[in-house]
Amino acid sequence: MNMNDIIYKKREGGKLAKEEIDYFVKGYTEGKIPDYQMSALLMAIFFQKMDQEETYQLTNAMKLSGDVVNLSQIQGIKVDKHSTGGVGDKTTLIVAPIAAACGVPIAKMSGRGLGFTGGTVDKMEAIPGFQTTIEAEKFINLVNKTGISVIGQTAHIAPADKKIYALRDVTSTVDNMSLISASIMSKKLASGSDAIVLDVKCGDGAFMQTFEDACELAQWMVDLGNADGKKTIAVVTDMNQPLGKAVGNSLEVIEAIETLKGNGPEDITELSLTLAGIMIFAGGKAVSCEEGYQMAEKVLQNGEALEKLIQFIEGQGGDSKVVNDYSLFPQYTYKQDIISEQDGYVDKIAARIIGLASQHAGAGRATKEDQIDLSAGIYLHKKVGDKVIKGEVLATVYGTDSEKVAHSVEEAEKAFAFSAAEPEKLLLIKKIIL
Ligand code: URA
Repeated sequence: MNMNDIIYKKREGGKLAKEEIDYFVKGYTEGKIPDYQMSALLMAIFFQKMDQEETYQLTNAMKLSGDVVNLSQIQGIKVDKHSTGGVGDKTTLIVAPIAAACGVPIAKMSGRGLGFTGGTVDKMEAIPGFQTTIEAEKFINLVNKTGISVIGQTAHIAPADKKIYALRDVTSTVDNMSLISASIMSKKLASGSDAIVLDVKCGDGAFMQTFEDACELAQWMVDLGNADGKKTIAVVTDMNQPLGKAVGNSLEVIEAIETLKGNGPEDITELSLTLAGIMIFAGGKAVSCEEGYQMAEKVLQNGEALEKLIQFIEGQGGDSKVVNDYSLFPQYTYKQDIISEQDGYVDKIAARIIGLASQHAGAGRATKEDQIDLSAGIYLHKKVGDKVIKGEVLATVYGTDSEKVAHSVEEAEKAFAFSAAEPEKLLLIKKIIL
């Protein structure tokens, strides 16, 4: 077999066989196929597309390029949850304790943030002492003891995706249905859970900007998961404004804690209960998503989910006093308000701009080596649909570098658009694909 023939076949719109897909995934992962040939193939796939069977084979080859985690020592149906990436998305920190409090074992691997989207691992590291790298045996013991553990993804999970994703990132070949679904699902299917709940974001702060594209991506991933024998359910949700009010690591963990105390913003509370309800159903603890939702609501209200968060933090070496003392989080030294210059209603808050502005305040990294400022971020005092009076504070930017904070304010201001009439409410949960 030869890479040139494979590139030619795809360039001409041909269908790649399993052997050809296995060949280039293995060859590229092992460094035997150079970047220039892989780039050419990715661009051919981008334009000519892959059908579902090719995408399935690609997913499988990438999954098998590294370790496939064995979680059989954990009792019960393990349920994973994945978001395709958003701004202000701290739902893992809320839904994982809720689902665990309802008896669903959570043994989850999460990622770090890159670019304008945040990552759960960075958020968890805002909790003093919290360890995100722990031995496999301890990880399994923790889940068996407390019902919950979330760690950083190891380099041994789908290494092919790691290499291919880095190349896609610099060759303008990220936003292709097959490449995105294979990338996400290869990692999820290698992570060992029995069921997967996917939160597929849709809107200006997401890979998929339109509802139709987001539904198609969701359906592809659901089919890939089910074809691999894992019950997979997707929820298509809005990402036309940041989720909740807090964007940035410490700020988001505080908002997650407040949500578990019952004081969370409406959108984050609603999405968390919906996702947790689906996880509880997928984990066999409820007969329907609706019953799962009610169970989730109950443990949120009676404090059991918050108690589970405390056990989770302590299990991974973190200081659980943060739950009642937010001064224990890394502290900002500068803050600057964004003031409204007009009366009216907030019509839009561009999620992508807020995500980038938060990154530039110090909350995210531009390269993997960058150190992040865990105190940095943006707090939105107003959300889409809120009435605003000239002079009112729209948002506050936090951080430890005054120049970065000032620069972030200039950027974040541009995210807001106003209307004279009250805008229509954005529908947060757009579709559930079972
Ligand atoms: N997230 C991933 O892990 N891969 C993609 O291709 C896009 C989003």
